[in-house]
Amino acid sequence: MTKLEVKKVDITTLNVDCIVNTANSTLLGGGGVDGAIHREAGLELLEECKTLGGCKVGEAKITKGYNLSSKYIIHTVGPFYSSQEESEELLSDCYYNSLEVARKNNIKSIAFPCISIGVFKYPKDEAAKVAINTIKRYIKEYPDVFKKIIFAVFEELDLNIYNKLI
Ligand code: AR6
Repeated sequence: MTKLEVKKVDITTLNVDCIVNTANSTLLGGGGVDGAIHREAGLELLEECKTLGGCKVGEAKITKGYNLSSKYIIHTVGPFYSSQEESEELLSDCYYNSLEVARKNNIKSIAFPCISIGVFKYPKDEAAKVAINTIKRYIKEYPDVFKKIIFAVFEELDLNIYNKLI
């Protein structure tokens, strides 16, 4: 059975098999979570990212974790919020496809940041619902694949939203 946890934490400090990065389609770094991950993982991460040819919105690509405690990083690209109709499925794809990549790489513990709710302006409540529903759907489909999935939230408000919904 998969354990679902919500933690208020800097995702780069987590000791899990893999952390998820909320990147942009170049995969060459940015601010927020992306900036923190590149800073902590080191320049070798950027070198590997340059070989990946970017990433489309909703898709996910894996690299090594370099100086992080986690062995892997899965980079996904969230949608810039326009409307629920246009953005919801893409946001859900980010979570689903990240878990697909993780499963195929035999990853057992994984942490997600709150994809798209920062620079990409997705409303927090709606984004949390999509995140939780997608992950619950995935672990129903694959009940024995992951030992632990962590929602790494950064702000008190997000902690409350997730705790209420979960
Ligand atoms: N650990 C966990 N959560 C964090 C951390 C951290 N170290 N730092 C910030 N957050 P954002 P997005 C929270 O903007 O909206 C980048 O430039 C933050 O408080 O990082 O998906 C990329 O290159 C917020 O709640 O991601 C893209 O261009 C959440 O993480 C773009 O930003 C997401 O904020 C992606 O934008």
